[in-house]
Formats: sequence, C-alpha cells, structure tokens
Amino acid sequence: MRNRLMLTLLALTLLAVSACATLETAAPTPIGIQPTFIRPTPTDRPAVDPSVAQVGRWQWTSFSASAESYPPVQVYMDVADGGVVSGRLSIYPNSPEIPQSALTLIQQNGCNLDFESLDDADGVSGVFYSPTEARLRVNVGACTVKFYGGITLEAPVAGEFAVSYDEELTQMILHPRELTPIERGQRIFSQYCSACHGSYGEGMPGTPSLHEEQVRNFTDAELDEVIRNGRINTVMPAWGNVLSPEDFAGVIELVRNIDTVLPD
Ligand code: HEC
Repeated sequence: MRNRLMLTLLALTLLAVSACATLETAAPTPIGIQPTFIRPTPTDRPAVDPSVAQVGRWQWTSFSASAESYPPVQVYMDVADGGVVSGRLSIYPNSPEIPQSALTLIQQNGCNLDFESLDDADGVSGVFYSPTEARLRVNVGACTVKFYGGITLEAPVAGEFAVSYDEELTQMILHPRELTPIERGQRIFSQYCSACHGSYGEGMPGTPSLHEEQVRNFTDAELDEVIRNGRINTVMPAWGNVLSPEDFAGVIELVRNIDTVLPD
C-alpha cells in the first residue's frame, strides 16, 4: 500500500465545513447528461456487496475523465455500517464567466456536490470491488459554492474516480489530536493542492510534479514566494490570503519532504 498519510485531517476541515452547512444555499439541480467513459470500469473484477465495505473515510486515488479537459476535481466518501455511503465531490472551475468573488471562494472551499447515497440520483454512482476499493462515476453539471450559491459548469464533469479506504485518515477522524507541522501540511495539500498537483504531488497534464529537481532546489523563501503569490498568467493560485502562517510552515515542510511523505 502506498503511503496515504497526506490525506490526513482533511476531514477535520470538512467537519467544520459541514457544521456551517445551514448557511449554504440549496444544492442546484445537476444537468442530466449520460456519461460516456473513455476508460470503462474494468469488467474482470466482479462487484462486491457494499455491506462488506470497510466503515470509515475513503479518498480518491485517481480520476479518469471522459473529456480531454476538465476542471480540477477531488472526492471523498464516508462508508457507514451496512455500506451506506455519503460524501463530497469538489470541483474547481475557473472559467471567465465566473465572477471573481466566486472564484476566490471556489479556491478556498471548492464548488461542491454533497451526496447521501450511491444510487445515481444526483449524478454520482458507485461500485465496490473489494472491502477497501471502489469506483465512483460522476456526471455533474452544477455545484454549490459555500457563501455564494449554485454554479452551472461550462461542461459537465464526467468520469470515474478510483477510491480506497484510508485507515490513517479514519483514525485521525476518530481520534483527533494536535497536528504536527507536516500533518498540517498534508491536510493543506489534500484540501488545496492535490486537485491540480495530484494526490501524491506527481503532477498532471498542465501542472508540474513537485518531486522534481527544480522544486528540491528551491529555497524555503522561494517556495514560500511561489505558494504565497502564485504564478502570474498560469492557473497556479496565490494562497497568501487563504493560508495561515502555520499553514505555510506546514505546507513548505511537506513539499520539502514530499519524496518520503508522499512517495510518487
Ligand atoms: C488550480 C491548479 C493549482 C492548484 C490548486 C495549485 N497549483 Fe501549484 N501550480 C500549478 C501550476 C499550473 C503550476 C506551474 C506554473 C508555471 O507554469 O510556472 C504550479 C506550480 C507550483 C509550484 C512551482 C513548481 C515548479 O516546478 O516551478 C509549487 C511549489 C506549487 N505549485 C505548489 C502548490 C501548492 C503548495 C499548492 C496548494 C497550496 C498548489 N500549488 C496549488 C497549479 C496549481
């Protein structure tokens, strides 16, 4: 198993977010378009009954989209007794039609779709392949930005996530405690960076890997600068107004140690 530590404590933030859920406006109705998948679910593995699924927090490990270009996306889900699933799909759209005020909020919290089941009612469906592995299909045309409201996406986000049970994160949620700097960095990375830079910082088309020589050669001050101010004329956002000083220290510590903490 690969080291899943990086996803640690995302949940604490998400718990805080859900505590404010009453402030959100009602979820918009997704556009109903049937997904067409480039890479269909592997048929060589039979599905298992959801009731055998490990209870706890599950995180995405990869996403195969049915379109060539799509906004950054991530998903987590919680499996309860009896295989009951709830979770949140977060999308980070960045089209010129979206007002700046909404873009800032999207950068901070994502544009989200909360789901309470996997019956495909709201554009999310899923299949378990083992007690710790599942695939989630999504086909979502709209999402909700906290403190802003509903956003209709330029094109629906359609594709398939591989998701797996995360023991460390589940333990963190069950037994919260003070974070070390690197754990704080992992939480920040999972919440704010992984949608573009990948779950392990391995990069994606259009976004560099953080495991490269170039990144290793940055001084702490240079790393702080690029994360704080972003890169002008690229999609790398400025995080100066989003992250606290402790967050910066943590995320820099994480990037410094990314080869061991998030082995690519
Ligand atoms: C919306 C997508 C997106 C998000 C979110 C994002 N990045 Fe980036 N990041 C990029 C892109 C694209 C670049 C390359 C910019 C360029 O071409 O110079 C980049 C560059 C970087 C670099 C410099 C890498 C190099 O080789 O020059 C670092 C370090 C970095 N990002 C860290 C982070 C951290 C830490 C976070 C989360 C707090 C984050 N990024 C969130 C898209 C993103």
